[in-house]
Amino acid sequence: MKAIKLDISKSGLQVPAEMQQKALEANRLLHTKMGAGNDFLGWVNLPSSITAEEIATIKAQADKLRAKAEVIICIGIGGSYLGAKAVLEAMSNSFGLLKKNRTEPIILFAGQNISEEYTSELLEAVKEYSVAAIVISKSGTTTEPAIAFRLIKAELEQRYGKAEAAERIVAITDKARGALKTLATNEGYPTFVIPDDVGGRFSVLTPVGLLPLAAAGVDIAALVKGAQDMEQATGADVPYEENLAAIYASVRNLLYQDGKKIEILASYEPKLQYIAEWWKQLYGESEGKQGKGIFPASVTLTADLHSMGQYIQEGERQLFETVISVNEPARKVVIEADEQNLDGLNFMAGKRISEVNRMAELGVQLAHVDGGVPNLRIEIEKIDAYTIGALIYFFEKACGISGYILGVNPFDQPGVEAYKKNMFALLDKPGYEEASKAIKARL
Ligand code: PA5
Repeated sequence: MKAIKLDISKSGLQVPAEMQQKALEANRLLHTKMGAGNDFLGWVNLPSSITAEEIATIKAQADKLRAKAEVIICIGIGGSYLGAKAVLEAMSNSFGLLKKNRTEPIILFAGQNISEEYTSELLEAVKEYSVAAIVISKSGTTTEPAIAFRLIKAELEQRYGKAEAAERIVAITDKARGALKTLATNEGYPTFVIPDDVGGRFSVLTPVGLLPLAAAGVDIAALVKGAQDMEQATGADVPYEENLAAIYASVRNLLYQDGKKIEILASYEPKLQYIAEWWKQLYGESEGKQGKGIFPASVTLTADLHSMGQYIQEGERQLFETVISVNEPARKVVIEADEQNLDGLNFMAGKRISEVNRMAELGVQLAHVDGGVPNLRIEIEKIDAYTIGALIYFFEKACGISGYILGVNPFDQPGVEAYKKNMFALLDKPGYEEASKAIKARL
């Protein structure tokens, strides 16, 4: 695949034939649906199954919201939030909010925390704007988005009346189950379905990600096309040396077996920061179980060289680093010569900022490798919808393969229930009476 390349030459590893076979077998299991968690494999062939009609339906709904609202609030958490947020940040002008006479709606997020300040500031900030909302919850019962939605729904109903509010709210949820489904049916909200066999963190290419992105003006057809091409490039019959997902998954497992317990995803483009947040959820929730799994961390460089750089260079040697490297920036800024040269930067005069960034990247790579931090490099041609779509599917596929190599079910998340039980007990939720007494005694 031309848009994305993977360079493992600085990982310090040769992948043994046995591990190559393991990766290919894991990939086959994903396609034959014979492995653990096989009822959550709808994402494997999702890109190629998305039809032009589905994209058109999503765009049509997005256009309705765009016509009505200057601000669209997307309500969701985890997999029902991070994918849209990640792609949106990557695709947006970093300072787009400052543009006068914007034509695109402002997309804001809610329900990804339970902060009273955040919620209150959000409700206050949108007062002067026309507003619509997209509420996303697969289970339809998640507390954080449910709280935010209750408040935003009330605000919209108070402002526009119930009937018009129902035109400004779209629900994305399970086809039949959950409180959000019941509410959407009762209130008559337009609704999109999250397929049963696609888990939250693999759902960005369903309406969960596509509707907010289309509402923001992102070219979702190009995003899906990139994912489709990567689906083909990592298919069950693709040989190991051509299958980037199998290579990435096998190398990170070999590094893990070698004591490298933490993977840092690094990028030199700040607008990719949320791609790393999405990636952390994808890998953390998929692999961190049964006392196993690489801890996914992230840095944005060069900023974090001035904070985390010391640890990465010389701290405990349980790290490896995967860099998302962008070949061609979309914009050009040249550093000018200065007559006085008081800052001593004239040796850079005539160079583009991206050349300096590239030299920083290459210098850091070698420094980290010399310091005992193996390095993998994912080279992306540029930051556009097509390439980001391909990158998303690459990471998803590699995650499935990697989890199977590790020997876990990458598609469940039993561990996320523990905090919920405690929180409900502390909040005296009906049904939690005994747990409530027990936990309060421990405080
Ligand atoms: O990946 C997952 O399954 C989770 O992160 C969920 O996406 C998250 O908990 C939100 O769940 P829901 O969409 O049911 O509200």
